[in-house]
Amino acid sequence: MTTRMFEKFTTLTLISVLVVSVFAGCSSSTESGAEAAKEKKQQPIIVQGPMPIEAEEFAGKLDDVKEEKSGSFVFYKGTLDGYPVIVTKTGKGMENTAAATAVAIEKYDPIAIINQGTSGGHDPELHVFDIVLGERTVNLGSLKTPNKEKGEGIHPTEWIPMDLMASEGSAGEDPDAENIRYFEGDKDLLAAAHAVKDTYTKGKIVNGTIGSADVWNNEVDRINWFHKNFGSSVEEMEGAAGAQIAKAYDVPFLGIRVLSNNKVNDGEYNPDTAEANQEYVYEVVKQYISMTTEK
Ligand code: 5AD
Repeated sequence: MTTRMFEKFTTLTLISVLVVSVFAGCSSSTESGAEAAKEKKQQPIIVQGPMPIEAEEFAGKLDDVKEEKSGSFVFYKGTLDGYPVIVTKTGKGMENTAAATAVAIEKYDPIAIINQGTSGGHDPELHVFDIVLGERTVNLGSLKTPNKEKGEGIHPTEWIPMDLMASEGSAGEDPDAENIRYFEGDKDLLAAAHAVKDTYTKGKIVNGTIGSADVWNNEVDRINWFHKNFGSSVEEMEGAAGAQIAKAYDVPFLGIRVLSNNKVNDGEYNPDTAEANQEYVYEVVKQYISMTTEK
């Protein structure tokens, strides 16, 4: 081989090595691009629980869990059947739940939110360990009192429901705001919950109305008043706050509440209900994942 021929051969070899590695580089970057796109498409499912006993059991069932905090809210980021699921320990009450929901939506762009935990019965047909699927959720603290002068007393049974979302004007002056605002549970989440109903054997599962407020009612007449006028099946302190914020962002939402107590039929408080509910909600999330990934 002459020196010239040798130089030509070396240049050609170098060029082919370069071409091959560029193509190899291209194909591997296309693959990781597709994986990234797939991951991006998998928006997480958020499962909220107010108290440690209502969140930690579920978080312990996830794979590859990483804990993140925002304020006082704890996000357990993991996977279930390879799909991203984030359990949130929100803390109790309407304010914590509303804020934890907004933070979760802004930070994690969820595909759906399930708010779950314990509750107190308003319906005498429901017993401790029964579960209510929130076909509707309602804020039992959104109320306006009638006009009474000094000395005319306090009349809770005359209090009027107030819809804070009726208009941007004054809710106190607007007669159109004198309505009950119900937040609808998401149809697909409800379908997933119904599909796995039989996995739960500790009580019955029914569609119903979840009522929320930062109040624990122990007056049976007052409970009956809510049951009659708002149609509430159970009461708790979070669902309607989560539902309102989820609606503001158009994120599918469902409340799933187990009865831990029922004052109207002497159902004694039982904290074991929190774990039973999480076991059921775990099945619901698995079902929702299989329905979502099939689409
Ligand atoms: N009334 C109000 N909240 C209740 N909870 C359970 N039972 C009831 C009840 N009868 C839940 C609330 C809150 C915590 C105090 O327990 O959702 O998280």
